[in-house]
Amino acid sequence: MTDPVLDLEDLGFESGAHLLVQRALGGLSPGARLGIKGRDPLLDLHLRAWCRPRGHTVTAADGPVRAWVAPGGPDRWTNAERAGGPHGVVGEAPAHWGLAARGALVEPGGPEPPFDLAERDLVWADIAPALYASAASAQWDPATAVPWDAEFTLPPDIERAVVQVMTYLVENEQAALVVPARLLARVHPHFREVVQLLAVQAADEARHVEVFARRAALTGGPLGTSAAGGRESLATLLTEPDFSLASFLLSVLGEGSFLNLLAFLDRHAPDPVTRRAVRLARQDEARHVAFGVAHLRHRSEADPHLRSRLRAAVERRHDALAASTGLNQDVFDALILLAAGGWSPQAIRRGHAAVLDLRHEMDEGRRRRLVHLGFPDDEAAALSALHTRNFM
Ligand SMILES: [Fe+2]
Ligand SMILES: [Fe+2]
Repeated sequence: MTDPVLDLEDLGFESGAHLLVQRALGGLSPGARLGIKGRDPLLDLHLRAWCRPRGHTVTAADGPVRAWVAPGGPDRWTNAERAGGPHGVVGEAPAHWGLAARGALVEPGGPEPPFDLAERDLVWADIAPALYASAASAQWDPATAVPWDAEFTLPPDIERAVVQVMTYLVENEQAALVVPARLLARVHPHFREVVQLLAVQAADEARHVEVFARRAALTGGPLGTSAAGGRESLATLLTEPDFSLASFLLSVLGEGSFLNLLAFLDRHAPDPVTRRAVRLARQDEARHVAFGVAHLRHRSEADPHLRSRLRAAVERRHDALAASTGLNQDVFDALILLAAGGWSPQAIRRGHAAVLDLRHEMDEGRRRRLVHLGFPDDEAAALSALHTRNFM
């Protein structure tokens, strides 16, 4: 067997000669050496410098072949492993895969970033890739999607009611932004569709904050009130460390209730800006709820004890909020006035009934989702009744 010879001509290592050497070494038969020809004056020096850390032995030669390279030493890729398949997620992603792309060949060693949500079932839902794709294509521009220049004039009381509701919505949207943003930083990047989905969810909430804050300030009056009870309710969402429990409290129960609230505001909005803003937000919220429900169904299949933990989370939160006032009275009154549309006793009676209907619809929605997660009817009713009076 004749050892093969590579002719680099006048190509030096400063111009990429290592690519040709590496490629030729990769094609060597076991036991063979590679002869190197070339005219670059620094070839011998650079060839040795390149071969040394790779464990290849270089022997000088006289004549047209300037050196012989015998491959050797442990290949740094010998113990490399694939970070799963490009399309298949693994059950548990090791810390040392870190930020490597799913499916990449991962060189051993390197950092082990502390992504503590590294198990598939802790974060996954099969719907995540499709939901991410639809979320990415459904992004709207707050500057143009809402008719900010539409002309309208509302009676001052009605305008104040809109501003009060917007003030309340901004507060809730800010909580809804912080929760997924905190969670996504803990999810192992191997489960990238979940990270991407949570990132878009946070971006959705950023837009909701923007449009509601902008509507609140549209006519130049002061913002409404922020009650301690509402903020207490939201604070309990921020401190839930378990991904599935946080997703349950925020997305299934809270954002699920908000779907009804935003539909109510769409029905009773007194102006086109408010109507458009709540309608756009509601489309996004439907996706947030869908992921929460899908994830919890996925997790409950893997974990038969999940439902009792969900129940305990609702009870814990209820107990923590037992002394708080729940929904800001100013928000409750503003909703009544918006649904009433005026101050006559008949109108207020109608508005009051509409808000009670809203609470009923929220309760029905929560119960339906709880049953969908496997809770029996009576338990779903009991848990829904324990949900925060602040809605979120
Ligand atoms: Fe939102
Ligand atoms: Fe949301």
